[in-house]
Amino acid sequence: MPARARQPAPAVDKHAATRDNLRKSLLSWYDKSGRALPWRVRGGRAAPYRVWLSEVMLQQTTVAAVAPYFARFLELWPDVTALAAAPREAVLAAWAGLGYYSRARNLHAAAQKLAAEGFPETEAGWRALPGVGPYTAAAIAAIAFDEPANVVDGNVERVMARLHAVEAPLPGAKADLKALAGALVTAERPGDWAQALMDLGATVCTPRAPKCSACPWAQSCAGAALGAAESFPRKAAKAERPHRYGAAFVLRRGAQVWCVRRPDKGLLGGMAGLPTTAWNSARLSPAQAKAQAPVSAHWRKCGEARHVFTHFALTLDVFVAEAAPEGEGWWGDVTALPTVFKKAAALGSEDERDV
Ligand code: ADE
Repeated sequence: MPARARQPAPAVDKHAATRDNLRKSLLSWYDKSGRALPWRVRGGRAAPYRVWLSEVMLQQTTVAAVAPYFARFLELWPDVTALAAAPREAVLAAWAGLGYYSRARNLHAAAQKLAAEGFPETEAGWRALPGVGPYTAAAIAAIAFDEPANVVDGNVERVMARLHAVEAPLPGAKADLKALAGALVTAERPGDWAQALMDLGATVCTPRAPKCSACPWAQSCAGAALGAAESFPRKAAKAERPHRYGAAFVLRRGAQVWCVRRPDKGLLGGMAGLPTTAWNSARLSPAQAKAQAPVSAHWRKCGEARHVFTHFALTLDVFVAEAAPEGEGWWGDVTALPTVFKKAAALGSEDERDV
């Protein structure tokens, strides 16, 4: 009898098996240990309005900071029609304190479009709305519509950099990290997958002191195998943040301060603020600053307010006076101001000399 021809071993995609294991272990970790968040629905899809609102608020902002704003917005405007019909000033005022105020202007503009045209169901459709970048569009498509979108933020980049011990530094490595994340996305529970990765990055694979012992991927992680998970992602040396200076002017009436609307274009555009000088790299002398005050009065310096924005740090010399305001503005509550002006106004209210 002729010897049977040897069959070639069946081709096994080792990488596919690894990816499958990674997916299974993370999703079952998420089912047990994922966070309960106000905008999150387990075992189903959350409403697009809630997902869109939460994702815009979560851009560059922590879950803890967003939660009360999310609840307040839903109380004030339970659906997109209500938000679209709200006066822009009311939306900006409700956003005060959350930062990155162009988000509130874009949210309001996008609400008009969504109320008129309905919610898009695809990543590309969301991408066409003001304030919705590639990350947010992917997150909404995955979470609200179960599209297998590749949702990659800083958390996911960090997880991928550690899992694969990627030596290329950020920001140059972004495209590679996105491709590594994309290789794990499938049509199985895409919304849960996106949120599971976010939660892993936020609660276990944290920037400092990652909790590798609690990680469902600890056995597969190349960074952990090197005993150096925390050292990933590698980072290119950072340019120092520039410093700017300006002066802010506090006129008080009881618990209120004189407020002006900031120009639409630029930082904190369209928000309520204190009257200020321009913010420049050169610091004005007190006399130069007072010459730019909104009214002529006996202005006294009451302190310096410091605030760090994404692209620069700011020091405001704060002046206070008792005088009748002139020009356009209104008496407003300090609590409705963006944080930098709250800090300045607090210095103005601490000034006890003539209270
Ligand atoms: N960060 C951004 N979007 C998020 C979400 N949907 N859940 C948790 N953290 C997030």
